[in-house]
Amino acid sequence: MRQLLLILSSLSLLACQGTDTPTTARMAAIDSHSFAQPEQVRTTHLSLNLSLDFEAKVATGSVTHELARADKSAPFIVDTNQLTILGVTDQAGEALDWDLQEDQGQWRGRPLAIQLGESTSKVRIQYATSPLSEAMQWLSPEQTHDKEMPFLFTQGQAILTRSWIPLQDSPAVRVTWDAKVTAPKGMTTVMSAQWRKHPHGGTTTRFEMYRPVPSYLIALACGDLMSLPVSGRCAVWAEPGVVEGATAELSDLERMVEACESLFGPYRWGRYDVLFLPPSFPFGGMENPCMTFATPTILAGDKSLVALIAHELAHSWSGNLVTNATWRDFWLNEGFTVYLEQRIMEHVYGKDRAVMEIALGMQGLQKELTELPEADQALHIDLTDRNPDDGMTAVAYDKGAAFLRRLEQVFGRERMDVFLREWFDEHAFESVTTATFLAFLEQRLLATDSAKAAQVDIDKWVRGFGLPSDAPIPDSERFAAVDAAVAAYLAGGAAARIDTSDWVTQQWLRFLSGLKDPNQKQLAELDKAFGFTRSGNSEVLSAWLSIATRNNYEAANARLELFLMTVGRRKFLVPLYQALLESDDGEARAKAIYQRARMRYHAVSQRTLDKMLGYKPSE
Ligand code: BES
Ligand code: ZN
Repeated sequence: MRQLLLILSSLSLLACQGTDTPTTARMAAIDSHSFAQPEQVRTTHLSLNLSLDFEAKVATGSVTHELARADKSAPFIVDTNQLTILGVTDQAGEALDWDLQEDQGQWRGRPLAIQLGESTSKVRIQYATSPLSEAMQWLSPEQTHDKEMPFLFTQGQAILTRSWIPLQDSPAVRVTWDAKVTAPKGMTTVMSAQWRKHPHGGTTTRFEMYRPVPSYLIALACGDLMSLPVSGRCAVWAEPGVVEGATAELSDLERMVEACESLFGPYRWGRYDVLFLPPSFPFGGMENPCMTFATPTILAGDKSLVALIAHELAHSWSGNLVTNATWRDFWLNEGFTVYLEQRIMEHVYGKDRAVMEIALGMQGLQKELTELPEADQALHIDLTDRNPDDGMTAVAYDKGAAFLRRLEQVFGRERMDVFLREWFDEHAFESVTTATFLAFLEQRLLATDSAKAAQVDIDKWVRGFGLPSDAPIPDSERFAAVDAAVAAYLAGGAAARIDTSDWVTQQWLRFLSGLKDPNQKQLAELDKAFGFTRSGNSEVLSAWLSIATRNNYEAANARLELFLMTVGRRKFLVPLYQALLESDDGEARAKAIYQRARMRYHAVSQRTLDKMLGYKPSE
């Protein structure tokens, strides 16, 4: 055992120093965020068998790994975090020697090293999660829409799957998997799988994923759920009180899938469903295969926020089919996905809408670039010794997409589409690095036309800071109208005189972003004219609440508190708590609200806000 520990500590050192500059395009990358050594022993398939206890807020059971062993002398190392390991056996049920190492720091967790026998081909780990397992959020009935049953969902990306399944938690390791999940009677369990068998009166649901996926895409939700069909392969899942409205909002779902297929090749995952979670979900959406998990805050009633669904759907190509091999390569997932999202939106909702959404994204990027350290402004970011969450900035998303739009601008849409389709087809079900992409780009696009290639400084885009000056930012007529209205208003015009009769959500967001810091009289006048504090559109409302709060507009206080007590989406929480901190006496209020609201947020949001507000768990 001591020897094993020695091996482990040298491995963890290695893992921390890891870089992923492969010498050949398809050479495996070293993932500094996982202790697994997949080059030695690799899981090819895993079988989950879990039972959910909503009272204790734990899942207990086992995971069985089927192994490919390139190095017969090497131990099998899996990542774990906040798990209790109860026992480890081989395919014959014989106990195996195992060692759970010390916690390696907040987000890395504890590597579990298992000694394998000469003929060990399967390893079963019996385990239990903890109520604090970060991937899982256990909600009380009060935190759901219908308030009938408790609710559980998991969020794996980036490295949280290790807190509910002991596995090789690296996006470079792809596995097929199956699961058996037992839940309390009357509750419905769903997973990110291709096949699902209804319990028929029993309480155990079975799932199967036939395609190899990275660990962060294994997901589960359980609650009072039902579904309504949108098309033969698409359905919307939600609590009974939400499902009808949600299905109406997504009535274009099938058209979105078809748009993406016509551009980038077949949808390869069978069904495409969307599950609406309770509002504490920390993200807008999560591209879990076959079933996107989404926040209900996009249900505006007028389809104005469905670009988020186009985004998660697009991940079925960029991300789920072709996956970032390490978290440094995250822009390959998100930048490509934002680009695809914009293409889907243009296809289904027209150029006007797509252009406004691109412009809003670029505005957000430019603002964020003024706040980010230079090193974090590169697409190929260095995340060594950092939480991969640090890479989740507008750089990966909007700068990544702008890079692809620049390539499209230079090489033409037709060439670009062929190029992207080949990229997806030829790397389907693979995990890829930035180096792999750059080699493919050189060979398939740049080398075909050197005059055009000379117009794009690839290195500047991928490794440089800031936004290259050739970044395409499209003009929007609808935004020009808004900008004129803002200018007239700021020059002393009356709010009620602005003609907003044909404005859409994106125009309202542009309007609010142009206001800067209105005074009390202006805030009251704007609110009276446009009813912002009563807005049912979460994007408009949160943008308004942020302005109102920062500028001490007290009439919005109650709405702000209600929002912070019910919504757990980090993208909204961060600017709102920030606005509170900047307001008069705001720090005390921010802390007081957080004290009450914190337990309603998922660990992902808690982690960010704890830091922002200087919260210590013992307080
Ligand atoms: N895959 C991401 C969410 C994510 C990224 C979770 C990194 C954990 C770590 C998802 O596709 C996403 O990007 N969601 C965005 C919405 C999108 C429209 C930009 C979100 O949740 O804000
Ligand atoms: Zn995404």
